Amino acid sequence: MTSSIDVAKYKAAEEAVKRILNLRPRILGVGTGSTVDIFLDLLVKRRELVDAKFVCASLYTAQRLAESGFNVMQLSTVDGVDVYIDGADEVDRELNMIKGGGGASTLEKIIAYASNYRIYMVDYTKLVNRLGEKHAIPVEVLPEALNIVYKRLREMGFEATIRFAKSGKYGYVISDTRGVIIDVRPSQEFNARELAQTLKSIPGVVETGLFVDMADEVIVGYPDRVEVLRKNRI
Ligand code: 5RP
Repeated sequence: MTSSIDVAKYKAAEEAVKRILNLRPRILGVGTGSTVDIFLDLLVKRRELVDAKFVCASLYTAQRLAESGFNVMQLSTVDGVDVYIDGADEVDRELNMIKGGGGASTLEKIIAYASNYRIYMVDYTKLVNRLGEKHAIPVEVLPEALNIVYKRLREMGFEATIRFAKSGKYGYVISDTRGVIIDVRPSQEFNARELAQTLKSIPGVVETGLFVDMADEVIVGYPDRVEVLRKNRI
């Protein structure tokens, strides 16, 4: 049975395809997750952007695009991206986000940083008043530094959980960038920019899933409509 959230994701992805085809990027960056998957289903059906190049935040997204005949490039060969499209786990009123539910936030952040225009697709349940309301903050860590970072995070007062694979693997989730993910819950309200800096100041932390000032627009899907939120216009 299709849930209202699935319908909302579909609506956001449908609007994103329209907007991206209008923008006609030469290089399109693509994130990962179930909403991105719907976006890819719809894009593949359109058979457009055949001359565009794609850079991907996960092996899975890259495989999907390559199998459908799109031109996928290694991220290491690119120094700029025209448009980036992705999903998110939480979006606040300033369009700051938590990402990394799919374990790919490091590459997602690098590609978003290199992109001229960043579009995110979310269903309406992802909108929050305060980041961290529903999701922990993923922190990607070098495997060698796992115990040291884990201990330090707990000393700093965070609730920290090393992400364990739910199925298909016994043990920790290993990201596309070969990191281990610690899901961190702050015990009190936080400033996203400051917290991102604090977490990154621990040696061994590769990246955090706090995305501050990295969205140009967020397409919010509802069961019956979409809304497009832009920075400073909400
Ligand atoms: C992956 C992500 C995803 O964009 C995020 O988890 C949203 O996923 P979904 O579209 O499945 O709700 O950040 O690292």
